Amino acid sequence: MRGHSLPFYTMDDFNFDGKKVLLRVDINSPIDPKTGKILDDTRIRSHAQTVKELIGLGASVAILAHQGRPGDNDFTTLRDHSELLSKHLGMDVNYIEDIFGPYARSQISSMKPGDILLLENTRFYSEENLEKVPEVQAKTFLVKILSPLFSLYVNDAFATAHRSHPSLVGFPMVMPSAGGRLLQTEVEILSSLFEPSSKPCIFVLGGGKVSDSVQLMETLLSKGLADKILLTGLVSHLFLIARGSNVGKATTKIMEGKGLFSLLPRAESLIKKYGETIMTPIDVAFLKEGRRVEAALDGIPDNSPIYDIGESTVSKYSELLKNAKTVIMRGPAGYIEDPRFTRGSEGLLKALVSSRAVSLLGGGHLRAISERLNIADKIGYFSTGGGAFIMFLSGEKLPALEVLIASKQKFNSER
Ligand code: 3PG
Repeated sequence: MRGHSLPFYTMDDFNFDGKKVLLRVDINSPIDPKTGKILDDTRIRSHAQTVKELIGLGASVAILAHQGRPGDNDFTTLRDHSELLSKHLGMDVNYIEDIFGPYARSQISSMKPGDILLLENTRFYSEENLEKVPEVQAKTFLVKILSPLFSLYVNDAFATAHRSHPSLVGFPMVMPSAGGRLLQTEVEILSSLFEPSSKPCIFVLGGGKVSDSVQLMETLLSKGLADKILLTGLVSHLFLIARGSNVGKATTKIMEGKGLFSLLPRAESLIKKYGETIMTPIDVAFLKEGRRVEAALDGIPDNSPIYDIGESTVSKYSELLKNAKTVIMRGPAGYIEDPRFTRGSEGLLKALVSSRAVSLLGGGHLRAISERLNIADKIGYFSTGGGAFIMFLSGEKLPALEVLIASKQKFNSER
């Protein structure tokens, strides 16, 4: 897809006048674990343009989206999202507490041009959480029941394009489909900005999606795309253990609860094969009597989890960032929902903007911190994607993009 015209339909390829459009977006947002409130609405803002354009072109739009994963703290309804979307659009958004049941269907059937519905969190429907090939996802109830109600499907969810879920890969199999404006922009910009030849290229990987990070590291390292990978966040704890460090009982318990020890053999084999190309923290921060405290690896306590990287790690990583030509950063370095643990992420972002590297950042958390620090305008590009962003840059195929390409071939004559 790099450097070529797009191989899937975009919104320029269809007439939307009077059409009912099913629009998939990614408004999955960080949620305050205590109040349940949305902490950052970047993704919601980013999709507003696509919705406005579709409405301006004469369509009515029903929106499908997810929030969190079953079992996680941030797995919740889309009520607050609908209010924020409505605010950013300056238009009414009708929040429907249903996905494809009778209530949702009757609301969709009575949509008129200009109407906007936001359907409930698609992941409340169990089949949405299973990764299967598009041919199978096209036969799920979600796709079978909703697809006849719409003329067109638009996927604007670049940030979830690495998932092969029914709402992402099922619909393009059965109906004419296009990539939305945000998805199109992400693909075009990332294709043009990232040149594997821009070396040294450093990846800084953090955040909570450990299994995704391990998979990405395997790809990046085996293809020689990363000259260094600097680890922070939960994934760094796994690699510290792989290096023989004791991360303390509290952190170990969290990792056990998330089933992360099954990834240990893969982490050990990456360390064995790539050694110091993979960097892990040399100090960490945790809570002691309600305050942030830092310690080297031999001082990690048993009674508080690790919540951030420490100052020495920030300095060590910052030195490396100085000499990079390209820096690709995804996920925060610590538990930034708590203001005591934003320092690691802030330190790395400051080091990044004072280096001469071209910077590409993924995920909403880092954008929110950069905006707070007033350095957002010094970052090369923010992608709304985290996992999808890195996977795209590592040249992996993203299922939701692949199926849009297949859909273009399949529905070639139906425009
Ligand atoms: C993301 O935040 O990376 C996307 O919304 C995908 O979410 P997921 O990792 O829970 O599938």
